[in-house]
Amino acid sequence: MDEIKDLACAMVIFGGTGDLTHRKLIPALYNLNHDNKLSDDFAIVSVGRRDKTDEEYRNELLESVRKYSRFKPDNEKWKEFRQKIYYRKLDFSQDSGYTALKAFLSSIDEKHMTKGNRIFYMAVAPEYFEGIVTSIKKYGMATNIGSWQRLVIEKPFGRDLDTARYLNKTITDVFDEKDTYRIDHYLGKEMIQNIMVIRFANSMFENIWNSKYIDNIQISSSETVGVENRGGYYEKSGALRDMMQNHMLQLLSLIAMEPPVNLDTEAIRDEKVKVLRTLEIMSPEIVEQNIVRGQYGPGTVNGKALPGYRQEEKVAGNSVTETFIALKLHVKNFRWGNMPFYLRTGKRMPEKTTEIVIQFNSLPDILYFKNNGGLEPNLLVIRIQPKEGVYFQFNGKKPGTGTEVESVKMDFCQNCETISNSPEAYERLLYDVLRGDSTLFTRWDEIETSWRFIDNIAKAWESKVLDLHEYGPATWGPEEADMLLKRDNRKWWNL
Ligand SMILES: NC(=O)c1ccc[n+]([C@@H]2O[C@H](COP(=O)([O-])OP(=O)(O)OC[C@H]3O[C@@H](n4cnc5c(N)ncnc54)[C@H](OP(=O)(O)O)[C@@H]3O)[C@@H](O)[C@H]2O)c1
Repeated sequence: MDEIKDLACAMVIFGGTGDLTHRKLIPALYNLNHDNKLSDDFAIVSVGRRDKTDEEYRNELLESVRKYSRFKPDNEKWKEFRQKIYYRKLDFSQDSGYTALKAFLSSIDEKHMTKGNRIFYMAVAPEYFEGIVTSIKKYGMATNIGSWQRLVIEKPFGRDLDTARYLNKTITDVFDEKDTYRIDHYLGKEMIQNIMVIRFANSMFENIWNSKYIDNIQISSSETVGVENRGGYYEKSGALRDMMQNHMLQLLSLIAMEPPVNLDTEAIRDEKVKVLRTLEIMSPEIVEQNIVRGQYGPGTVNGKALPGYRQEEKVAGNSVTETFIALKLHVKNFRWGNMPFYLRTGKRMPEKTTEIVIQFNSLPDILYFKNNGGLEPNLLVIRIQPKEGVYFQFNGKKPGTGTEVESVKMDFCQNCETISNSPEAYERLLYDVLRGDSTLFTRWDEIETSWRFIDNIAKAWESKVLDLHEYGPATWGPEEADMLLKRDNRKWWNL
C-alpha cells in the first residue's frame, strides 16, 4: 500500500478528447483504479481545444470505459474515479492557456494532495510535441524542485534521424532522460515481457539460442484493416517508419539480445541497444536484394468491396507509400553469425497477429520421414497478440504399426483462460510511469540507432525507387515476399 501512496501525482493529458485517450488511456487508468493501483492522491487533468464542462467530459469518458475497459464501470468505483477527472480548454498555440493550466494544477495539488508531481502525456499529433514541451518549460511546469515531473511521448519519435535528434534536444532541455518515457505500447504486452523469461529461465532454449541450432527467425506483424482515417499520417510514414523503426526492431532486439547482467532498467536497455548497433548496414545493393515493398490494391473480402490504398481518404492517387514491407537482415555478432532474420509487417492481411517464429535446424532425413516427405522442423512460436502464448512444434510417432512421423504441438496459451481480463499494455505502462520504472520504454540511444538503420533503407529508396508490388486484400503480401525466402529454400510460417 505504501508504494501506491507514493504515486501521488496529477496526470496532464494533452489531447484529452482524442481517440487514444478515449480508447486506451482512460480505460487503462480506470482499471488501475479498480485494482487499487492508483494513489488516493491522484488526479487527471485532460486538455483539449473544445468547450466542455467537467461533467460533460466525465460523461463522455464513462461511455468509453463502458466500451473499451476490461472492467465495466461499477457504480461505486466509477463515482470514486470520476471525481479525480477534470477537463481544461487550451489551444496549444496560445500562451494564455498555459498560465491558466499552471494555476489550475496548483489548485489540484491542494485539493488532491498531488504534491506538485506531474505526468505530462502527449496524446497529440507529433507536430505539437515540440511546442507543448517548450511551453511546459516556459511556464515553469517542470522544475523538479521538491517534486517530480515526467514526460510520456507517443510514437512517432521523429520521421528520420535528424528530426528525432531535434525533438530529443527540445525534450532534454526540459526533461532528464530518466524522466522521459518514449512509449512503444508493444513493450507493455504480457508476452513481450515473457520473451526474456522464456529465453533466460529455460536452459533448453537458451543453450541453443544461436545460429548453430537455429535456422532462421521470423517476426511478423499484420493487420486486417487498411489505413482507415489515418491516410494523411500514413502517407508520410509508410510501413517502414510506422512499424519497422519501432515495434519490429524492438521485438528483434529482445529476441536477439545477450543476457543482461541483471534485470535493472539500464542493464536490459544496454543489451537491447547493442543488437541495434550490430545490425548489418543496409547498403543500396542489400536493400534492393533483401527488401520487398508492397501496397494493398482494391478487392473484395467476404462479399465486401474494399478500396485499395490509393483510393483511401487523404492518400494520393499515385502514392508510392508502402503498406507492406518484408526484409531479410543479419545481426552481425558471434551469436548470430550469418543466420537470417526475416521481418514483415503489413496492412489488409488475412489476420491481425504479431508473432515470432524460431525455426530450428533440421536433422538429416536418414531415419525418419513424414509421409513421403522430409521431417518438419522444430518451431518455437511466440504469440504476442491477439492470442498470447507459446507453442512448440516437434515430431512424434504417428500412432499405429509403422514408423511414420507426424508433427505435434505443445500449446501454452497465456490468455485462454483469462481471455478478456489480462491487463492491457497501457495499464502496465502507465503504472510503470507512475512508479518511475522506464524499463519498458525506449531509451534515446535505441531510437537513435534504429533510425540510423531505417534511414539507410529510406535513402536507398530515394536514390533508386524500389518496385512497389501490389497485393490483394486478405493476402500475406505480394508474391515477391514469398520469393525472398524461397530463394533461400525457406518459407514464411503463416501459422
Ligand atoms: N489512437 C491510437 O490508438 C494511437 C495509438 C498509438 C499512438 N497514437 C499516437 O497518439 C497521438 C494521439 O493520437 P489520437 O489518435 O488520439 O489523435 P486524435 O484523435 O486526432 O486526437 C488529437 C487530440 O489533440 C487535440 N488537439 C489537436 N490540436 C489541438 C490544439 N491546437 N490545441 C489543443 N488541442 C489540440 C484534439 O483536441 P480536440 O478534440 O478538441 O480537437 C484531440 O484531443 C498521436 O501522436 C498518435 O500517433 C495513437
